[in-house]
Amino acid sequence: MEELSTKHLLGIKDLTPQDLELIFETADNFKEVINRPIRKVPSLRDITLANVFFENSTRTRLSFELAEKRLSADVINFSSSSSSVKKGETLLDTVNNILAMKVDMIVMRHSSPGAPHFLSQHIDANIINAGDGTHEHPTQALLDSYSMRERLGTDLAGKKVAIIGDILHSRVALSNIFALQKQGAEVMVCGPITLLPKYIAELGVKVELDVRKALEWCDIANVLRIQLERQQIKYFPSLREYSLYYGINKKMLDSLNKEIIVMHPGPINRGVELNSDVADSDQAIILDQVENGVAVRMAVLYLLASKR
Ligand code: CP
Repeated sequence: MEELSTKHLLGIKDLTPQDLELIFETADNFKEVINRPIRKVPSLRDITLANVFFENSTRTRLSFELAEKRLSADVINFSSSSSSVKKGETLLDTVNNILAMKVDMIVMRHSSPGAPHFLSQHIDANIINAGDGTHEHPTQALLDSYSMRERLGTDLAGKKVAIIGDILHSRVALSNIFALQKQGAEVMVCGPITLLPKYIAELGVKVELDVRKALEWCDIANVLRIQLERQQIKYFPSLREYSLYYGINKKMLDSLNKEIIVMHPGPINRGVELNSDVADSDQAIILDQVENGVAVRMAVLYLLASKR
């Protein structure tokens, strides 16, 4: 049986192109499973997983939990806001106490970049990064690529993907850049200069400040949320002004001489980075991304568990 090159999923940066193909092929099988009348397989029935979330989440946490249950794993959920972290317990103590209850794998979201990498050096269990601060969100990038391939009906070699919005604070952007480049796609980032990391061009991406030019260039626009919760200073004068210069609406898309695919990882700031007339249109595959997230996460969990 083919297997992944890594024990953990800490970031897309560590994966090979072969790992990506293996995850997508495995996700195809699980997508078929979750569309059957009985949406469950016994693959992880001897595995116990903990979803350890130190940051808020709707899609990622529920999608992982559902993926684990569809694979028949035993699941426990930890949320830092209602835990003894509030009494001063450290990350490592918290996770070691969870592992003492005979947990095999950890899915973790944390606000500090590198937190899952730190854990991987101190514990034996497999770790899956469900988003570490502004660093990486590997399963989001995997489900994004899977959804692009599904809509296009082909792989992503030579395709042009524009990532538009708050690149500076986005873990989705970095994971997508790595994933897309490993599949031979061309990547552009677009946003106000204040929301683009200073050395982003060194990753081999095109940089564009004009959203209309980005839309004209791309086959797919992956639109990112303005992350106000991570912004300690003002990066643009107002949300109204951001929306005026960078918000994407149907009129802009209709003025292009082609039909591009529009994506968003969620949660959407409606009327800021994306208008409802785009978010709810047939050009947007936002809910397909969410649906595919379960199959892709089943694939990741299954492939990592089979390396145990
Ligand atoms: N896309 C994403 O990570 O959403 P959540 O923050 O709701 O998990």
